[in-house]
Amino acid sequence: MIRDAGGPAASEARLLRVEGVVKRFGGATALNGLMLSLGAGESLGVTGPNGSGKTTLLNVISGVVRPDLGRVWLAGLDITGWPPHLIVRAGVARTCQPSRLPLRLTVEQYVEAATLHRRLGRFRRRRVVNQVLDLTGLTDLRKRDASTLSSGESRRVQVGHTLATGGRLLLLDEPFASLSPGDAPEVLSVLRRLRGQGLAILLVAHTATVFQALCDRIAVVEAGRVVRTGSPAEVLRA
Ligand SMILES: Nc1ncnc2c1ncn2[C@@H]1O[C@H](COP(=O)(O)OP(=O)(O)OP(=O)(O)O)[C@@H](O)[C@H]1O
Ligand SMILES: [Mg+2]
Repeated sequence: MIRDAGGPAASEARLLRVEGVVKRFGGATALNGLMLSLGAGESLGVTGPNGSGKTTLLNVISGVVRPDLGRVWLAGLDITGWPPHLIVRAGVARTCQPSRLPLRLTVEQYVEAATLHRRLGRFRRRRVVNQVLDLTGLTDLRKRDASTLSSGESRRVQVGHTLATGGRLLLLDEPFASLSPGDAPEVLSVLRRLRGQGLAILLVAHTATVFQALCDRIAVVEAGRVVRTGSPAEVLRA
């Protein structure tokens, strides 16, 4: 399907393990011994106050930031400190906290650009792009200049770009932030569809509706540590 065949099996007990990660920026401790794990196909919500370290956690997992201490394991492989492009190849793809799509590309060019590191023939590449456009509901918009899209459409392009890397773990940083209210349901239904495809998702978000619709578990981060985990019902009740 979207992923190359023949990659590591998606059935390892823990797809991702973050063990005791510490990251300091000058005098500020962004991550303070954070522990987290995620199973293949699992969808984990990460929430917590502003500045608690959620984006830094995604930066460490995706290789954008190197931790001072601790390890990150992907399906049993120690990926700590790997450069981002190798982590993408290993199957981890991420979106950034909402921003406008920076390049003047069409929707399908955005999606295709994310496949270019993959050794796919022309036909396979086309098929992946078509599948991603279909899964994200963007087929009818494929020729549109991405800078002319609504907030929900842009967000779906960002998710499609992530998906087209062939990742088995998607890291989504606040995909519902700064969406107009009418656009949130379409993004939610795309993410539900991806979850249904068996992709593992680590999703930074803040609302009960999103957690209930998308997540198997929630981890609450405060001051750079996970202070609580549980099912959405357990954590939202607390
Ligand atoms: N590149 C950086 N340089 C210096 N300090 C940083 C950097 N990145 C993050 N920080 C600091 O690390 C702490 C955690 O920031 P982070 O962005 O991870 O929090 P967050 O939980 O994602 O917050 P928000 O909910 O506002 O997105 C903050 O004090 C932040 O100022
Ligand atoms: Mg953040």
